[in-house]
Amino acid sequence: MEDRMISGEIQEDDASVELSLRPTTLKQYIGQDKAKNNLSIFIEAAKLRNEPLDHVLLYGPPGLGKTTLASIIANEMGVQFRTTSGPAIERAGDLAAILSSLEAGDVLFIDEIHRLPRAVEEILYPAMEDFCLDIVIGSGSSARSVRLDLPPFTLVGATTRAGLLSAPLRDRFGVLSRLEFYETKDLCSIVERTSEIFDVEIRKDAATEIARRSRGTPRIANRLLKRVRDISQVKGEPVVNMETTQQALEMLQVDPAGLDHIDHKLLISIMDSFNGGPVGLDTIAATIGEESQTIEDVYEPFLLQKGFIQRTPRGRAVTTKAYLHLNREVPEP
Ligand code: ADE
Repeated sequence: MEDRMISGEIQEDDASVELSLRPTTLKQYIGQDKAKNNLSIFIEAAKLRNEPLDHVLLYGPPGLGKTTLASIIANEMGVQFRTTSGPAIERAGDLAAILSSLEAGDVLFIDEIHRLPRAVEEILYPAMEDFCLDIVIGSGSSARSVRLDLPPFTLVGATTRAGLLSAPLRDRFGVLSRLEFYETKDLCSIVERTSEIFDVEIRKDAATEIARRSRGTPRIANRLLKRVRDISQVKGEPVVNMETTQQALEMLQVDPAGLDHIDHKLLISIMDSFNGGPVGLDTIAATIGEESQTIEDVYEPFLLQKGFIQRTPRGRAVTTKAYLHLNREVPEP
């Protein structure tokens, strides 16, 4: 994937900063009111009953706070937070080892759960449903299956692609929570909170401008804020102001709607090479040199939500709004 200022993906140098910015309680967590309100009731009820929370599936585009929410769940339940990811678990034995090391009530977080190998997924079913592990010992005619008890635990799965989850796995989650792109006012509060953590003063209009251009994604808002802060500090300004913010965002090639050069490339390629579409995802991917899956997971959700592209049965098409946004003549129908 081409390097991109507004990617929702975690970039390596962000990882430790991101940890320090992470809210630790539901009260500190801004936005996602629906998911938050539901979770707070389910957490309170589970605590009243002295039971682990039911398994939770969090899904939605990258950068919206799925990992953060999972760690908050563990913190609010007062249990350990253990984390792994679908691609990191290659064999059934890897998952069996993790499961058998859990303590009662622990939250096990599996990121990108749609990428768990099928054989691994199958040992999750009895683990989630009956808190037990079926393992096969030996091979051939001497093979026998042994059932081991596990402590009750909560699985929190996260995925950008809920549609790729198999039905038996999806059905074993008691709570399904879809995270939505954030509203500008919530992103503005996040930018202000992060500025406070950074001990940097920022004007309200500047924070709002960063929020508006962050594609509804806190991870992007915090990343843009860091670069705006750099430029403001180098200019020797005591407070981050609107002028510097706009200048910084222009330097970073983030346009007023939050689109960057890759979004522009994608839209322009559909306009110029495919007459505005519809055109298949794989064709677009080959034309602009990105992976189809990256386009589908990372770039497209926001462009779809803001009405710059449409999905049709024959592929993707740009909209009139996209032509107007890029100052291009709208073609005759
Ligand atoms: N930092 C990143 N995401 C956040 C959120 N949803 N609430 C508060 N701070 C955040």
